[in-house]
Amino acid sequence: MGSVTHSLSGRIVLGIESSCDETAVALVRADRTVLAERIASQEAEHAPYGGVVPEIAARAHAQRLAPMIEATFADAGLALDDVDAIAATAGPGLIGGVMVGLVSGKALAMAADKPLIAVNHLEGHALSPRLADPTLQFPYLLLLVSGGHCQILAVEGVGRYRRLATTIDDALGEAFDKTAKILGLGYPGGPAVEKLALEGDGTGVPLPRPLKGSKEPHFSFAGLKSAVLRAKENQDGYSDADIAASFQQAAIDCLVDRLERAVSLSDPFPALVVAGGVAANRSVRDALEGFANGRDMRFVAPPLALCTDNAAMIGWAGCEHLAAKPDFAGDPLDLKARPRWPLDPEAEAARGAGVKA
Ligand code: KG4
Ligand code: ZN
Repeated sequence: MGSVTHSLSGRIVLGIESSCDETAVALVRADRTVLAERIASQEAEHAPYGGVVPEIAARAHAQRLAPMIEATFADAGLALDDVDAIAATAGPGLIGGVMVGLVSGKALAMAADKPLIAVNHLEGHALSPRLADPTLQFPYLLLLVSGGHCQILAVEGVGRYRRLATTIDDALGEAFDKTAKILGLGYPGGPAVEKLALEGDGTGVPLPRPLKGSKEPHFSFAGLKSAVLRAKENQDGYSDADIAASFQQAAIDCLVDRLERAVSLSDPFPALVVAGGVAANRSVRDALEGFANGRDMRFVAPPLALCTDNAAMIGWAGCEHLAAKPDFAGDPLDLKARPRWPLDPEAEAARGAGVKA
């Protein structure tokens, strides 16, 4: 396997992301410079179906990835030989898409004799705040809120993630997307619900706060989604904007309550970090900032473009791997894509997990 050629801070990693509905490529240098970055959203392809269609996603990744890699190198004025490693998302995610990105990463690694770094997509999100903020040190408390996940993690170092809580049914982004669907706002739903909520009354519609006050700090959003559906069906005296605002407020109350619980069960953390697509939500950010400020914790939220899926976070995770493991020669090229890949393999299943309302 080819060796790393640049000095520590000059190392360059090609990042490839294809686990859901964004095809993304980035060239990231270990001194936290994103040298070039391309991202192609598949929103238009999936919008008619109201959600991501796995086969359409895989085909779109396959069509776009190779020309995007070429264009990203051209943007940066670099060639494949200039990179020290190739980092590709190897899971979790939609298997067809993950395979497209991983196979491309393997082919480039083999052709250029460079190490392949198989990155867990969730690790990309978990470490992305350190790309934007050089002062953010381990450990930190991470709220990871995306379309597929809702977890509280203790991030103790590169490769050292302890899951403190997870959702027993839906992810928060999924709940935003379903609320958007119920309200006829289309896909992707999160930003549309946030926008509509600005015009509504967050106390206008009584909605539940599932698991609020429960002993384990886990989340549940399926019941909230069902309540949104009932609120829409029985709509009386309140607007869609009130439903959106009340849903968002209920979700935020749950996040804060569950974080309070998690914090009460562990040693203090110097910082609270939020990552994942839902971290793009202004009201969510504001509430989390208030939570952290009240507890002497620093609050760190990456810039919006780093919150939703992107390849800079995958390239950066690759840089973190190289820095943390000086003798790392690369992951094996016969490594398989993993549709499921928990960040904390030791974490027990949450009680009630898998129960969907
Ligand atoms: O991290 P991400 O881009 O993809 C996954 O790994 O899942 O997260 C996408 C999720 C979607 O469910 C989307 O609706 C949600 O993040 N999202 C938002 C906002 N922007 C994206 N949810 C609430 N408010 C937003 N502004
Ligand atoms: Zn993601």
